[in-house]
Amino acid sequence: MSAAPDASEGDVNSSPLRARWRAGLSAATRALLDEDERHFLHQSLSTPCLDVIERAEGATLIDVDGRRILDFHGNSVHQLGHGHPAVVAAIKAEMDRLPFSPRRYANRTAIALARRLGEIAPAPLSKCLFAPSGAAAVSIALKLARVATGRHKTLSFWDAFHGANLDTIGVGGEALFRKALGPMAPGAEHLPPLRLVERLFGPDRPFERFADMIDYVLGVQGDVGALIAEPMRWTTVEPAPPGFWPRVRDACTRHGALLIFDEIPSGLARTGTMFGCEQTGATPDILVLGKGLGGGVMPMAAIVADAKLDVAGDTALGHYTHEKSPLGAAAALATLDAIDKEGLIDRARALGARGMAHLARLRAKAPMIAAVRGLGCYFGVEIGGAGAPGLADRLLYACLERGLSFKIGGGTVLTLCPPLTIADEEFDRAFAILEAAFDAVA
Ligand SMILES: Cc1ncc(COP(=O)(O)O)c(C=O)c1O
Repeated sequence: MSAAPDASEGDVNSSPLRARWRAGLSAATRALLDEDERHFLHQSLSTPCLDVIERAEGATLIDVDGRRILDFHGNSVHQLGHGHPAVVAAIKAEMDRLPFSPRRYANRTAIALARRLGEIAPAPLSKCLFAPSGAAAVSIALKLARVATGRHKTLSFWDAFHGANLDTIGVGGEALFRKALGPMAPGAEHLPPLRLVERLFGPDRPFERFADMIDYVLGVQGDVGALIAEPMRWTTVEPAPPGFWPRVRDACTRHGALLIFDEIPSGLARTGTMFGCEQTGATPDILVLGKGLGGGVMPMAAIVADAKLDVAGDTALGHYTHEKSPLGAAAALATLDAIDKEGLIDRARALGARGMAHLARLRAKAPMIAAVRGLGCYFGVEIGGAGAPGLADRLLYACLERGLSFKIGGGTVLTLCPPLTIADEEFDRAFAILEAAFDAVA
């Protein structure tokens, strides 16, 4: 098994293929991209950019040249597609009524969202705090674990991603986000990445042995405050087999560490259940949500915690300016309503089956595919062989030229994240584009 580079997202923007792609853009688009570079600091995975977007509707991005692009990337915020009418209407109505809620005041919309999240989260999770980004919500969870346990140490996994703030990259494990930044938070200890468990622990019950190791690491130290994990590490990794997370859950309980599940991309119907953890057999002490919570429009994230953890009344856990954002809460309530009314949990499963059928056919004819996998409506196509990262980049650019955008995970995995509201015809068209790209690259 080859080790993929430590990056959740291949940096296609710095790929040598970008120059050819850029030459195919209109002069107007190139001028705007140049202006973007003049005014924004350069950083990886961002500026320089690929294209300039003018509009976004449903599953489609429309660039300034009028090119339509099926968005199977969407930063994983678009369970409801772009600009869902109910979300937009709820935000507009809230904007007319209460555009901002200053600190020290409660507001009905935020209260309604906190109540709703407490009702739908697995018991005993019931009390919330909100934040304006996923990373900020992870920070709250880490602080709460420190206060509740009196311990500052954490365990997390190499290769994990928990947000791009300095504290969250410390518990994250992706080299791309840590490089050139100096020392990370003290006490942030790392476990081997889930994708290497079989390589490191052998073919005989590897995950059971890995859970034993976690139990040992927690026990031998006795002062770890929290273990934070993505229970579903997206398409770069097969989900851990049944039994693994319950063992980790038991070990945390036994050794007095809190279990934090970061479900920022995997929550809210994406995996075919409302929360991914429902499929793991383990309930965390703190669940972190974000991304699609704001309906793909508002920045909105939350933690939902066991009410027993309401023990930090004297500590500023969040203290974010837009903490109880009525606009974010209105977007989130409209999102949860749409998930229910439009049956998006079932839709995620149906699209999952449809997508896996497409991928099985594609795999049969494309020997460069090492594996295909899916979880609800999220798919991974792993490119194998020595030149896999370069090939993955070429496939991405071949798809972009044909009107399909997605991201590359771990350097070699094409990760496809469609809206759950997408029409069958658009969904099938995206897979036809993918097939055409494989034909072109082969
Ligand atoms: C698993 C996970 N955690 C945390 C974050 C951070 O969320 P945000 O970008 O809203 O800070 C992300 C974003 O990609 C994520 O995928």
